[in-house]
Amino acid sequence: MMTEADLREGIVRLSKSLFDRGFSVGSAGNVSVRLADGLLITPTNSCLGFLEAARITKLDREGRHVAGDPPSKEVFLHRAFYDTRPQAGAVVHLHSTYATALSCLTDIDPDDCIPPLTPYVVMRVGTVKLLPYFRPGDARSGDLIRALKGAFAAVLLANHGPVVTGTDLGAAVYAAEELEETAKLLLLLRSCPTRRLTPAQVDELRTVFGAATPGSA
Ligand code: 13P
Repeated sequence: MMTEADLREGIVRLSKSLFDRGFSVGSAGNVSVRLADGLLITPTNSCLGFLEAARITKLDREGRHVAGDPPSKEVFLHRAFYDTRPQAGAVVHLHSTYATALSCLTDIDPDDCIPPLTPYVVMRVGTVKLLPYFRPGDARSGDLIRALKGAFAAVLLANHGPVVTGTDLGAAVYAAEELEETAKLLLLLRSCPTRRLTPAQVDELRTVFGAATPGSA
């Protein structure tokens, strides 16, 4: 069983890994993990590359500040997922370049904005819903996630970036990376006739690997 100290160190380590590989820049992005008695989340305006474990914010189940620096202004995105997806143990929000580029396009399918191009996006991410734009820190984005009632493990915020869940922080980070790389492939292939996985191939992945589907992590 991971202690709170282990989870704090895990946030520092994996957030730095995301930053070092360019998945987040400046103070963009925020990362959280669920606790039995609340959650840990990166502080507002912090850089994912230079977090300090002791300064990571702890909130209780009601969202009250318990310890650390003031929380990310996007905490309601994270809480909306925890409240509606019992299997979500961690949430990662990024402004990663290709997923954010995709989120600005006017002709993507809002109900399936990261289509099944390769097996791993099916296995790690599942179907992704595009949500309409609200400014960063506007709690209405959280309301939109709540309205999905846990049916999606990941969403893309229009003109903003992805919010991705996993059973634990490692799974959420893998899913965020897979989403980003698939967005890159989609943009690389945008003007090419492209073969997607068929519904039967997607079903096979879900059967064999218990892939992320609406309703699973
Ligand atoms: P915070 O610095 O408050 O976490 O906000 C960063 C961000 O990614 C806004 O969308």
